Amino acid sequence: MLETLTIRTQRTTASRLQHLDPDHIEFGKIFSDHMFAVDYHDGEWQNPQIVPYGDMAVSPANSALHYGQAIFEGMKAYKNAEGHIALFRPYDNLHRLNASAERMCMPTVPEELFMQGLTQLIRLDANWVPNAPGSALYIRPFMFATDGFIGVRPSDSYRFMIFTCPVGLYYNKPLRVRFEEKYVRSAEGGAGYAKNAGNYGAAMYPTKLAQQEGYNQLIWTDSSEHRYVEESGTMNAIFLIDGKVVTPALSTSILDGITRRSVLELARDWGMTVEERKVSATEIMAAQANGTLQEAFGVGTAATIAPIAVIGYQGQDYTLPTPGPDSFSQRMSAALSAIRTGDAPDTHGWMVEV
Ligand code: COI
Repeated sequence: MLETLTIRTQRTTASRLQHLDPDHIEFGKIFSDHMFAVDYHDGEWQNPQIVPYGDMAVSPANSALHYGQAIFEGMKAYKNAEGHIALFRPYDNLHRLNASAERMCMPTVPEELFMQGLTQLIRLDANWVPNAPGSALYIRPFMFATDGFIGVRPSDSYRFMIFTCPVGLYYNKPLRVRFEEKYVRSAEGGAGYAKNAGNYGAAMYPTKLAQQEGYNQLIWTDSSEHRYVEESGTMNAIFLIDGKVVTPALSTSILDGITRRSVLELARDWGMTVEERKVSATEIMAAQANGTLQEAFGVGTAATIAPIAVIGYQGQDYTLPTPGPDSFSQRMSAALSAIRTGDAPDTHGWMVEV
């Protein structure tokens, strides 16, 4: 049990829970009643509080708005059949948040503050955690610069916040993706491994172009040769080639995804060969042509496992077999979901009860 940090809590007098239709939850549109906030001033985190979810005042001159000094995390909490709520691998999110903070010259968040903010917020909004199959409470921890100063240097003050929203599926059907061979998401030595806001903003234009061509998302390739797979949309990419689980090795340009890590760990538990290495577009297309590309999918917190139905490459579309219930991605999706809802033993100790 975590020690209890004093967090001043102001409860809402007008819950919006009755507006939530648990059978039609759209991703990211309805936010739970409360949010957590704590400010960093004079070298320390001060005044942690939980307040009703709502707009807030910030300096128009803050460095998050102008220079992108902003980072975030995506994580989920699940409700089991007995109504108990548990977080999936929250310490992994904390470590990645702090790695992103370091890359963006921001202060790190102490474990107690992160975990107490999270658990006290979720306990207060426990009724917002859905329990329909495939649903979860999506949690968005984030931090941004708050100095009112327009010069280009790291801010001295920051706000760290957490809000939550009940979510269902992120993608409701298998994806059409295409290799991106002009634009890049990030370059070696850049900030692609960090979850900073700018990585996502800069990806929107190339993604919009692909969407205008009828694709849902891109498969990003490396910045120097456009040969090697990096990520798919906002997810890590995983392929099943000739019975082996193949995924790009982590680098400074690839996000260290927690769903990616979990899928690889379970695949190894299942005795499968897992290869984390360079994966080229030509290798994928050759495997597609000779029938050894069995599955391709994106993995991420929001989407969990998103099967890829069509891959576009150099102007041609290639269709992949539809993954059935015995496919690797569907079995993996079921296994992860059973661990999260307490229907399978949590042998790795991933779940942390709230
Ligand atoms: C996540 O999977 O949590 C992401 O970061 C994707 C996104 C909704 C930005």
